[in-house]
Amino acid sequence: MPASASKLAIHGGEPVVTISEPEQWRFDTEKAMVLIREIVEDGAISGTTGVYKEFEDRFREYVGAQYCVASDHGSSALASAFYAARIGPGDEFLHPVAGYLGSFAGALHMGARPVFCEVDPETLLMDPADAERRITPNTRVINPIHMGGNVCDMDAFIALGKKYGVVIVEDAAHAHGAEWDGKKIGNVGDVAGFSLQGRTPGGKPVAAGEGGVLCTNSREIYERQLIYCHLHRTGITDELTLPEYRMLEAQVLGYKWRAHPLALAIALVSLESLDYRIERSGEYREAVFDALRQLPGLQPEKTHEKAKRVSLYGGLKVVYDPEQYDGLPTTKFVEALRAEGAPISGIGFGHMMHTRSLFSRGFDLWGHGRGPLGKDFEPYKPGDFPITEDLHTRVINIPCYLEPKDGFREQFIAAFEKVSENHRELLES
Ligand SMILES: Cc1ncc(COP(=O)(O)O)c(C=O)c1O
Repeated sequence: MPASASKLAIHGGEPVVTISEPEQWRFDTEKAMVLIREIVEDGAISGTTGVYKEFEDRFREYVGAQYCVASDHGSSALASAFYAARIGPGDEFLHPVAGYLGSFAGALHMGARPVFCEVDPETLLMDPADAERRITPNTRVINPIHMGGNVCDMDAFIALGKKYGVVIVEDAAHAHGAEWDGKKIGNVGDVAGFSLQGRTPGGKPVAAGEGGVLCTNSREIYERQLIYCHLHRTGITDELTLPEYRMLEAQVLGYKWRAHPLALAIALVSLESLDYRIERSGEYREAVFDALRQLPGLQPEKTHEKAKRVSLYGGLKVVYDPEQYDGLPTTKFVEALRAEGAPISGIGFGHMMHTRSLFSRGFDLWGHGRGPLGKDFEPYKPGDFPITEDLHTRVINIPCYLEPKDGFREQFIAAFEKVSENHRELLES
C-alpha cells in the first residue's frame, strides 16, 4: 500500500517520516583545530595580518571582486557599506518588507529612513518594480536581500541604480557562492555584504561563529569602508590612496569592527567546502522542488533564469495555495505534515518589518524627537503591503540538506503527497 493511501498520522495513522536527524555531513573540526592551535601558539590572535589577510584574499579570489574587507559581523559590514554609499540624515533607502533589521541598522543610526517595499510573489525577493514606485528625491540606497541564497533580479536593480543615481547595497548574508549571469555575488553590483555568523552546516554558507565580509569593485567604496571601521588596520595609511582619505591618520574614523582572527581561521576551513555544499544542497533542493511541483497548490520559490542560487542558510520556501485544497488553511496543512514527521520549519517570512514596533510606532532614536523614526515619521500599519502580507500566511518553510540519510528525501516528499491526497479529511476535523 503506498504511504499516501494510509490514514493521516494526525488522525492516528502511521507517520511517513521515520528517519530523524537526517543530516550526515560534518564540518572538518580537526582541520580548524590545527589552524587555531597554530595561531594561538604564534600569539597572532589580534590584528589584520596573517590569517586575516589570508581570508580576505581567498574570499576576494573566490568571488572575483577587486576588494574585500572582513569585519566582526555581517551587520557591521553592511553598516560600512551604507557609510560608503554616503547615506546620512534625511536620506531614504529601500528595503524589502520581508527583510531584516541587521541588514540596515547601520543606516538607521546614520539617520536614514527605511522605505519598505513588496516582494515578488514568485521569487519571494524584493520586487524591483515596486521599489521603483517608492523612489523619491531622498532615496540614496536600494538594499535588496538575496534571502535564503536566492538571487534578486540584479539587472533590474543595477538599472535602477543607474537611472536614479542611487547605490545598490546588496545584502548577501545568505548568498556566498551564488551567481548572477555567471558572476559571483560580490562581483556584480556596487557592494555586497556577507555574514559569517553561525556554524557549518546550518549557519551562513561560510561560517565563523561571528564575522562579516564586504566585496566591491570600487576603490572609492573600499576606502570608505576601511576608514569607517578599520581603526589601526596594519598598513591602512598606505592602503588609502584617494586624497580625501589619505590625509587621515591610522585611527581613521575610530571604529574598530575587526573580525577575530580565530573566527576567520574557522571561516577559511568553511570556505574550502563551500562549492561541495552548494552542489549537494542544490541536488536536494531541485529533487524536492521537482516533486512538490507535481502536487496541486504547491509552488516552490522561483529562481531567476540568470541566477545560480545557493541554499545553505534559511531553508527553502514553498508557496501554498489554499484554494487548491478546498480552503484548507496553511496551518492545518502544516500540522498534518508535522504529524507525518516532516520537519517543517514554520510558516511565513522570518521578519515582517512593518509590524515591528520600531516601524509600526516609530522610535525617538536620538532623543529630543530627533532621528529617522522620530516626530515626522509616519508609522507603518498592517495592510500596507498586501502582496507580502498574503504570502506571509502561505509560505511553508522547509529545511535543505547536504547528505541526508538514505531514504529521508523520499519520506519527506511522501509526507507531502500523503497530506495533499488526503487533505479532505483535514477539512472535517
Ligand atoms: C539577511 C541578513 N542580513 C544581515 C545579517 C547580519 O549578519 P550578522 O548576524 O553577521 O550581523 C543577517 C544575519 O542573520 C541576515 O540574516
